[in-house]
Amino acid sequence: MGHWTLDDIPWDKFEPHKLDPELLKLVKAACMVEYHSSAYGQYLCAVFSEEPGVCEDALAWSEEEVQHGQALRRYAEMADPNFNFDNTFSRFVEGHPIDTNAQQSIRGSLCGEMVSRCAVEVGTSSYYSALRDSIEEPVLREICSNIAADEFRHYKLFYGYAKKFQKIEGLSRWARFKILIGRFFETGDDELSYAYYCGSGDTEPYARKKANTACMGRTLPLYTFEIVRRGIGMSLKSAGIKPQGLLGKSITWVGWIALRIYARHLQRAAGIT
Ligand SMILES: [Fe+2]
Ligand SMILES: [Fe+2]
Repeated sequence: MGHWTLDDIPWDKFEPHKLDPELLKLVKAACMVEYHSSAYGQYLCAVFSEEPGVCEDALAWSEEEVQHGQALRRYAEMADPNFNFDNTFSRFVEGHPIDTNAQQSIRGSLCGEMVSRCAVEVGTSSYYSALRDSIEEPVLREICSNIAADEFRHYKLFYGYAKKFQKIEGLSRWARFKILIGRFFETGDDELSYAYYCGSGDTEPYARKKANTACMGRTLPLYTFEIVRRGIGMSLKSAGIKPQGLLGKSITWVGWIALRIYARHLQRAAGIT
């Protein structure tokens, strides 16, 4: 089912001196969020229980996400033998549970749920593209490259469903756009930050703002204009807005400038020079 396996990764080409320890923290955080996707697969099955085919696709999708977690876990354990995945992951899940028994989408509609899934895949495809382009260590670069390709395919899968359910439910562009924006603010909110906190082995009590600043202050500066332009374009498409239109281009430029300002602000706040 997957397009690659852990056996395709050239683990013996690992060059530890080329690995930035700060990037390894991002890898550990991503590893836990990916593992957690199996719970999202169950959630999607429950929400789309009356829609033929969606559950099968959601389970196949979550299997690929878990494989992302497995590859990143193996890498993190190779790079840092003191990394205890099981302890770290159970700490993460305890602090960030997912309601797998939900019967209705928390986005209010089936189309809204799929638009929200598109936003997540835009986020992950951009994240791994940015990591892939910034990493010197060859094994990690290969892993991120494989994962990024999967995330683009996941976006296409959910985009297809978003279009299908939009035709049935008639959700307006504005409603879809609001879901997108809301989902992006959530992304900056907690799950990744909490995973970053757990993965970094911080023993102080969790401080959301501190973890978010440290995590995003290291992530956002890696995003190039091309990555942001493509990510915003994919997001707008899922809301029914043409990326090449005047509105789409304006949103792209505003988004890019806002991201650069915010990234710089976070870097300063986190003490990153
Ligand atoms: Fe993933
Ligand atoms: Fe994905």
